[in-house]
Amino acid sequence: MRDFMQRLQQKRVLLGITGGIAAYKACELCRRLCDLGADVQVVMTLAGTRFVTPLTLQALSGRPVRTDLLDPAAEAAMGHIELARWAELILVAPASADFLARLAAGTADDLLTTACLASDAPIAVAPAMNQAMWRSPATQRNCATLAGDGVRIWGPGSGSQACGDEGPGRMLEPNDLLDRVQTLLGTPPVLAGRHVVITAGPTREPLDPVRYLSNHSSGKQGFALAEAAAAAGARVTLIAGPVAVPTPAGVTRVDVTTARDMLAAAEAAAQDADVFIGVAAVADFRPANAADQKIKKAAGGSGLALDLVENPDIIATIASREVRPFVVAFAAETENLIANARSKLERKRVDLVVANDVSRSDIGFGSDDNGVTLVAPEGEECLPAMPKTALARLLIERIARHAIEAAPRQHHAQS
Ligand code: PMT
Repeated sequence: MRDFMQRLQQKRVLLGITGGIAAYKACELCRRLCDLGADVQVVMTLAGTRFVTPLTLQALSGRPVRTDLLDPAAEAAMGHIELARWAELILVAPASADFLARLAAGTADDLLTTACLASDAPIAVAPAMNQAMWRSPATQRNCATLAGDGVRIWGPGSGSQACGDEGPGRMLEPNDLLDRVQTLLGTPPVLAGRHVVITAGPTREPLDPVRYLSNHSSGKQGFALAEAAAAAGARVTLIAGPVAVPTPAGVTRVDVTTARDMLAAAEAAAQDADVFIGVAAVADFRPANAADQKIKKAAGGSGLALDLVENPDIIATIASREVRPFVVAFAAETENLIANARSKLERKRVDLVVANDVSRSDIGFGSDDNGVTLVAPEGEECLPAMPKTALARLLIERIARHAIEAAPRQHHAQS
């Protein structure tokens, strides 16, 4: 699906390529960035040039590749500081363990590290290395330092490796990286100055000190929306249940466990929110009394009856406030998708419902893709299956449009 957010027309991307077998995928990435209209300047480390040739990247990008910090001819055309200022994004893919270490240490011993150090542009790195190198405390420490410095760590993925190992350390596929570049550079600032609150992931309702009731939400869809909202200029508060997804850069994350924790965090964050999006799969019920000690099996195998009570409805609580943000609910349905979503729109008094068919195994809970129907009071729009990141960009654009149209009816959306 093409839309205005899929273009990178004249966006200036400095593509850094370091030494690793995944450098061959950087050729495809370079070509795809150029296809989307980006102006790509490739900078390679010496080790990078041992895997793919500068000539290949020059042919793909249409620009001479830069490799040397102290090359008088190249410096005369565009000096390294000028190059650092030129970039609107520095994307290093693949980023080797050695490069991450040098970047984390702030060294400027080649053109790529120097450009990173001298640039105000966002920097993203796509780590690629052997699984043991990725797991090593030094690499993990370096990545934590870089993340703390605001560097976006994209990946790595997991799977079989060129060296024969299996595990984390594969560079993300060009498609995935391209998708992230589009979120970062291709999103118009439709939510600039707005405060967007998003709930994501599952809640856990304790049964005893070692057991809980929960569901399969991974947090991927909510985190993708948080990233897209931040790229659209919003200040984002992400209230997250227990998930293993990294926090998007620039997003304030509040970790919670139970539905009641999530409600408290949501009520606090919604005070000055312009938009509230409930992506979390909140447990509708919790054990009436969580046991203080681990529940033991009864003699004779008589089973265990659970007494459950209903949890508060977070989104309905936010939507019922006298002064309230624009409220968007997700609806996870296994049957009668539209009718059930429309009933939630009315019952919970929200402004929009994103109806999610969770009976399909290729979308919804846990998967990387999702497809939804946007249900508004005046009609519906189908957004077919696509990566959750791409869907998040489309949804943020739609939500911003609806929220701005509704602004006269909302208190905070006017500010
Ligand atoms: O996390 P992923 O693995 O990426 O999966 C994404 C998703 C499938 C979880 C997501 O796309 C989705 O559909 N989220 C809604 C899940 C859900 O709980 O749906 P529901 O129909 O039960 O609830 C409707 C709305 O009410 C939701 O906005 C929910 O956050 C909210 N709710 C529900 C119960 C409750 N006690 N409080 C609430 O606020």
